[in-house]
Amino acid sequence: MTVHLSVMPQEIQETLIERFVDFQESGVFVDCTLGGGGHTSQVLQWIKRHNLSHRVIAFDRDGVAIQRACSRFEDDIRLERLKVVHAPFSEACEYVKNQRVYGVLADLGISSDQLDEGQRGMSFRFEGPLDMRMDQSKGISCFDYLHHIDQNELENVIRTLGEEKFAGRIARVIIEARDQKKLENNSLFLAKLIQNSVPKKFRYGRIHPATRTFQALRIRVNDELEELDSILKDMVTCLHEGGRMGVISFHSLEDRRVKQCFRELHQKKKFSLVQKKAWVPTDEEIASNSRARSAKYRVIEKVR
Ligand SMILES: C[S@@+](CC[C@H](N)C(=O)[O-])C[C@H]1O[C@@H](n2cnc3c(N)ncnc32)[C@H](O)[C@@H]1O
Repeated sequence: MTVHLSVMPQEIQETLIERFVDFQESGVFVDCTLGGGGHTSQVLQWIKRHNLSHRVIAFDRDGVAIQRACSRFEDDIRLERLKVVHAPFSEACEYVKNQRVYGVLADLGISSDQLDEGQRGMSFRFEGPLDMRMDQSKGISCFDYLHHIDQNELENVIRTLGEEKFAGRIARVIIEARDQKKLENNSLFLAKLIQNSVPKKFRYGRIHPATRTFQALRIRVNDELEELDSILKDMVTCLHEGGRMGVISFHSLEDRRVKQCFRELHQKKKFSLVQKKAWVPTDEEIASNSRARSAKYRVIEKVR
C-alpha cells in the first residue's frame, strides 16, 4: 500500500493525459517517476476508458516502489498495457527508442512512502540509518559519502544544493564529529548535530534547521540534478510530434533548470510552451496535501 498522494492530478489530466488519448495510432506514455503509481494509474484508467491500445512504461530506481507496483498493477502488466522498469529515468530513452512517445511525466524528488520510512534515512523526523539512496542496491549511502569528502566539498554541497546560509558551520561540525569518530549512522543524531551547529536563535524556528542540509545530501547521494539534466536533454528528443512532456519540481534548483531548458527549446521553435508560467497547486490541494505546496509544473509540446 502506498501513502503517497499524487500532486496536481487535475492539471496533469488536462495537459498530458487527455492529450495522450487524442492520438489514435497506438503509442506510449512514459512515467519517469512511478512512485506510488498514482499518475500511472490515472493514465491507465483513461486508456481503458477510451478503449485504446496505448501503453504506459513507468520507471523508478526504487526497488520497493517497483515491487509495490507489480502487485498493484498485476493485470495491466499481464495484459502488456503497462511495463515497469527498475532503472533511473536517465536510461528511459533507450527503452522507448523508435516508439511513438506521446506523453512524458517526471514528478521529481521522493515519495511520501520513502520519506516516511525511517529505514531510508531520508527524513530527520524518523529514526533510521543515514542511507538516503532511492535505489538501495546501488551507489553509496549518505553515511559513507560523509566519510569520503572533505569539509570544503561538504560546505559547497550544503550551500549550493541546500541553499543553506549556515553551510560553513554545519559542514565544520559534521566533519569534526566524523574525524573524532563521533558521527553516528543515525538520522536523528545528524539532525541534532546540525540543529546545535546553527546560531541559537535559528534552532527552533518553523522550519527545522536540518531541512536544507538533508535536502542537499539527498540530492547529492542520488545525483538528482544530473538525472534531471539528462532527461531534459534526452526525453524531449524521444517525443513524437504533438507529444508533450511535463515536469513537476519541488525546489528552485530543479525548477530553474526546467524553466531554462523549456524556454530554450521554445526559442528554437521546434517546441512550444503549453503555458508560459508554471502551474502551481490550488489552495484546496495544498490544504489536503501539504507536500504539494512547493510544486511547480511546466509542460512543453513538440510542434507538429
Ligand atoms: C514524487 S515520487 C512520484 C510519485 C508518483 N508520480 C505518484 O503519483 O505516485 C518520485 C518517485 O520517483 C523516483 N525517482 C526519483 N528520481 C528518479 C530517477 N532519477 N530515476 C528513477 N526514479 C526516480 C523516486 O524513487 C520516487 O519513487
